[in-house]
Amino acid sequence: MTRAFVLTNHKGGVGKSTSATNIALGIAGLLRQVGAKNPRVLLIDTDSQSHATLVTTGRNDFDTTNSLYSVLMAERQSAPQVLADVIVQSGWDENLHVLPATPLLEQAERELQGTAGSPYRLADPLAKIAPHYAAIVIDTRPSFSLMTEMALVAATDAIVPVEPRYLETVGLMSVIGKIHEIRDGWRIQNLRVSGVLVTKMDKRVRGHHNMLNELKAHPMLGKLLCGVIPMNEAVSYAHRSHRSIFTQDPKAPASRAYAHLVGRLVKQIGGA
Ligand SMILES: Nc1ncnc2c1ncn2[C@@H]1O[C@H](COP(=O)(O)OP(=O)(O)OP(=O)(O)O)[C@@H](O)[C@H]1O
Ligand SMILES: [Mg+2]
Repeated sequence: MTRAFVLTNHKGGVGKSTSATNIALGIAGLLRQVGAKNPRVLLIDTDSQSHATLVTTGRNDFDTTNSLYSVLMAERQSAPQVLADVIVQSGWDENLHVLPATPLLEQAERELQGTAGSPYRLADPLAKIAPHYAAIVIDTRPSFSLMTEMALVAATDAIVPVEPRYLETVGLMSVIGKIHEIRDGWRIQNLRVSGVLVTKMDKRVRGHHNMLNELKAHPMLGKLLCGVIPMNEAVSYAHRSHRSIFTQDPKAPASRAYAHLVGRLVKQIGGA
């Protein structure tokens, strides 16, 4: 079964899109490096802000005919074919494919609210094409809306990116609780919270160290810590120039940290 990693947190600006895009590229790159037979990775952008789509494809003009919107609104029978048709190759790597978002996703969400089976509108067609990919990475919007529920229902592993300033145990437990609530509500047996990813860690800030130490010492959350991404200007430069952090500066601290995380994830999917 293809693992699908969903980056999710209802807090805005915590590094969901940065992490989703760089993890997706990193997995494809590492799989190629180790000579994997299938190094293809699919990045799914479920956020109407379309940041992940824009940086990886250079485009933000996807609409009702050629984006995730088309998949969600398609007839059940034709949805897998529509999904296959709207996937595009990223500009970052031939093995990184993108299911693009569009601002119109909010409209789709409103239209689908309350319709039977709506949380499965992504998961069902995706199940048909998932075997073509070594891994799937899903970016989400900063809320637990219907669209994010659809992303969680389609996923196997939830990774929660969190900035050190939001690292209070109570807040983090409530995010994890919300994911579990959605999983149990829709009986998604394959979904688990598999990681907490600390982002924008500024080692000069004592409070950040205190928060990180508290997290490490926590009996449940400490085990979930899957990486610490430093606050690094190279990330902002990469973001602005629509590059991956690896292309922007492979030696930057954030590149090394994302590469480390990618190594862990590729081990989990049995690729290296
Ligand atoms: N490690 C980092 N160091 C410095 N800046 C970072 C880092 N990670 C992310 N950023 C910057 O923080 C901002 C928010 O990041 P990003 O867009 O990935 O967050 P997000 O959680 O996807 O936001 P949203 O909730 O709006 O979708 C961006 O400008 C990005 O360049
Ligand atoms: Mg985002």
